[in-house]
Parts: sequence; C-alpha cells; structure tokens
Amino acid sequence: MGAGAFDRIRAAAPTISVGMMTADLLRLGEELEQLGPAGVELVHFDVMDGHFTPTMTIGPPLVKAVKTPLLKDVHLMIEEPLQTVTEYVAAGADVVTIQAESCRHPHRVLQALGQMENANDPARGIVRGVAVNPGTPLEVLDPLLGDCELVMLLAVNPGWGGQSFIPSTAERARRLRERLDGLDRDVLLCVDGGVKRDNVGAITQLGADLIVTGSAVFDGVDPEGNARAMLDAVRRAAA
Ligand code: DX5
Ligand code: ZN
Repeated sequence: MGAGAFDRIRAAAPTISVGMMTADLLRLGEELEQLGPAGVELVHFDVMDGHFTPTMTIGPPLVKAVKTPLLKDVHLMIEEPLQTVTEYVAAGADVVTIQAESCRHPHRVLQALGQMENANDPARGIVRGVAVNPGTPLEVLDPLLGDCELVMLLAVNPGWGGQSFIPSTAERARRLRERLDGLDRDVLLCVDGGVKRDNVGAITQLGADLIVTGSAVFDGVDPEGNARAMLDAVRRAAA
C-alpha cells in the first residue's frame, strides 16, 4: 500500500517528471532504472496518435510493460480520449493528463477518470490532469478546475522531444499560478516541453510544482547524472 499519488507528488514538489520519449526504447527498463537512484518520482509517457499530433508514439501496452516503482505520468496527446482512457488506467497510469483541445467533452473525461480505480493500488487514486497547448487561452481551464488535480502548460507545440521553450509560457505560468493560488482546492501546476538545465531553475521560480523534462535527461549519455543535476537545480531554485 503506497501513499496517494497526489500526496506523493505534492510532498516532492517542486520536482521533475522525466519524459521517456528520447530514451533508448530497446533498453527502456535499464534506462528507467537510472531515475530512482537520482531521486526521481515520476516517469512521463508522451502518448501521440498521429492525429492530435503529427507524430505517433506509444499506446497502453508499453505503459503496461514498464515495471517501475516510479509513478506513471501519462500525457495523452490523442483525439477523443474518452474512448481509450480506460486502457491507460488499466495499464497502470497514476497521472492521466488529457489535452483540453482534444475533445468536445473534456469535463466528461475528467468525471469518468474520477470514477476509475488505480490499477497499481486503489489507495493511490488517479491524478487527473488537463493540458493546454501554447496557443490555447488559459480560460478554457476555468470550468475544469473543480474536477482535476493538475494543470499542464505545454511550453512547446506537441509532437517531438528536444524543442525550444516558447518564451510566452513564462507569463502564462505566472497567470495560472495566481489563478490556482486563489482556488479553495489544491491543483498542481505542471510545465512540459523545452526544459533544460539552464532554464529549469527559472521555471521552478514561476511556481511550477511539476516540471517535465525529456531530452535533457535521456541524452544518450548520462541519464542518472542529468536527472540529479535537474533535481538539484530545482531544489536550489525553490530554496
Ligand atoms: C511535447 C511533449 C513533451 C516534451 C518533453 O511534445 O509533451 O513531454 O517533448 O521533451 P523535451 O524535454 O525534450 O522537450
Ligand atoms: Zn508530455
């Protein structure tokens, strides 16, 4: 029996969630084993369907195949997630984030997720997230804030790892932080895309609780050292 997934993230925040997209997928198990010793708590799965995004990546079987003590943070960049969200939950997702732009009924998807049980351990619960693309007004999040535990600002247009952080994200993060601080419930602020060693501190200081970083950790050289360096930078910025 573990603690609730939300409480684990809240206790670790600000912290990082490491994107596996640029890891060596043929050695994914070994690659991910480097994250725990560095102090990482979450692995971030970027799910792309070739419709919502120009590219395709992975689906539920790979999320399920990964055996890890880390929380599975599943970012669904797919059209109409209501049809498949159950499969990601069955595959062991602890965090499920949908894109606000991806369907006509994002609220319904959040309601449905609220009824589902965490497949790893029912006591963990499921953290429900809503993400917005860089070109989407933040106001779309307003009616959803009562039914999610995490909001995610994409700092790149989704499709690939290794892109550059879009500068306007900083102002959006400030505004969203203020909005969340005014709520009577605790909603985590997450920033995803273009996060490197040289900007992770500044992003932490914008008030992000969770920061997704992929290619800066899985660079083909030293994932454990990279993850450590990122976490150190986050802690220094938060101190
Ligand atoms: C955007 C994805 C990201 C992102 C992370 O397409 O949602 O998670 O690519 O990768 P890096 O850190 O390389 O930008
Ligand atoms: Zn992502």
